[in-house]
Amino acid sequence: SASLVGSEMCIRDRIVPDYFRRNKIQKGKGRKKMIKVAPSILSADFAYLADEIKKIETAGADWVHIDVMDGAFVPNLTFGAPVVKNIRKVTDLFFDCHLMVNNPEQYIDDFADAGADMVVVHAEATKHLHRCVQYIKNKGMQAGVALNPASPLCLVEEILPDVDMVLLMSVNPGFGGQSFIETTVPKIARLRKMINDAGLNIEIQVDGGINDKTSKLVREAGATVLVAGSYVYGAADTKAAIASLKA
Ligand code: DX5
Ligand code: ZN
Repeated sequence: SASLVGSEMCIRDRIVPDYFRRNKIQKGKGRKKMIKVAPSILSADFAYLADEIKKIETAGADWVHIDVMDGAFVPNLTFGAPVVKNIRKVTDLFFDCHLMVNNPEQYIDDFADAGADMVVVHAEATKHLHRCVQYIKNKGMQAGVALNPASPLCLVEEILPDVDMVLLMSVNPGFGGQSFIETTVPKIARLRKMINDAGLNIEIQVDGGINDKTSKLVREAGATVLVAGSYVYGAADTKAAIASLKA
């Protein structure tokens, strides 16, 4: 009914200007974002983690993508906040922590203490996504929400004004080196439209199977942060590999 539409517009009129004030952005400005490359250290040699991070830093990485797996949300284990705390000593690069864990709210304090810049939680992994996002932001970090390939965009629709980034998985999380799921491309385009229509300024990150070919598809669709593990760490020339994702 007309009155319902009216009340929804009121909510948006209230929330969106607030979002702009908090993020010091003007409506319509800053939508053309620079492309950032976030190499995933999942494909690094863990015996030489400090060197592996220095290597991507020298090669022009914008962020470090840190894949945390709990063996429950995904069928694999990696590492947690203690490792993040240690590698925090070797670089000033932005730490983008992708939590592939159930009930991520119980680890947020630890990641804040470890020096994470952004914590990304899966919408499928928490019963209280809004509370979880607010908790991350109250800890002074940026907040992101991730969606698995089969999860619909409507899971993030209501939380968009509160997040800095949405991560669309382009493989099923758990392993590096899998092939890109093509249906992610139209999904990115639909999310970019949702974000633009709401007048928001939010990064879209894509993670899984990104290489010099798939990177072009996801950038054209509206992605702004590209995660790449096996492509970057498997390349003979790391600098050229990172540059090729932006070209
Ligand atoms: C998958 C991880 C990814 C992974 C990507 O569960 O979230 O970040 O490292 O690896 P590639 O780029 O090899 O697909
Ligand atoms: Zn990841």
